[in-house]
Amino acid sequence: MSQFQIAVVVGSLRKESFNRKLANAIVKLAPAEFSFKQIEIGDLPNYNQDDDANPSESVKRLKADINASQGLLFVTAEYNRSIPGVLKNAIDHASRPYGQNAWAGKPAGVLGVSVGAAGTAMAQQHLRNVLAYLDVPTLNQPEAFIHAKDGLFDASGDIGEGSKKFLQGWMDAYVAWVKKQAA
Ligand code: FNR
Repeated sequence: MSQFQIAVVVGSLRKESFNRKLANAIVKLAPAEFSFKQIEIGDLPNYNQDDDANPSESVKRLKADINASQGLLFVTAEYNRSIPGVLKNAIDHASRPYGQNAWAGKPAGVLGVSVGAAGTAMAQQHLRNVLAYLDVPTLNQPEAFIHAKDGLFDASGDIGEGSKKFLQGWMDAYVAWVKKQAA
């Protein structure tokens, strides 16, 4: 029985998204006491403050999924040196109405993969800035700026041999840190 339910937020809607593949693969490196649920952000309406008092079903679901979790895992693409709008939209939705920020206090891991050599470094820094404002503590080290290259995933979609040691180390640090935050 898992003790730690983690809400996974993927910052890309693309069907063949590297970040979704990374999210699917890295959770397999966690111990059995952790379970992960990817939360849907693609069907959220554009955030409009006028709707705060009357949120859509998809917004209610987003907040319920976050409330049910003991931690967060953001796996995001980088668009134009920042986070994709779809991710920011989801973050804004769950941060409101004022005083009902669902993200607050949930320990978060941040990682991402891109085709660029900098491996989403800028997007991750922007995301950390937003999360700091929302009172979300983030795992600082190790950082994970992953470059999408042949062999990152094996034929089964698991992390390939060349990256396994590093990403296992990342997951071990994340698991230890979430437990420490919960203690
Ligand atoms: C990109 N891409 C990109 N890559 C990067 O390393 N830094 C960047 O600033 C950008 N900017 C950017 C903007 C837009 C609008 C698109 C569509 C793409 C390329 C990006 O890394 C690549 O498309 C990844 O495959 C996106 O991640 P997913 O969808 O595979 O998870």
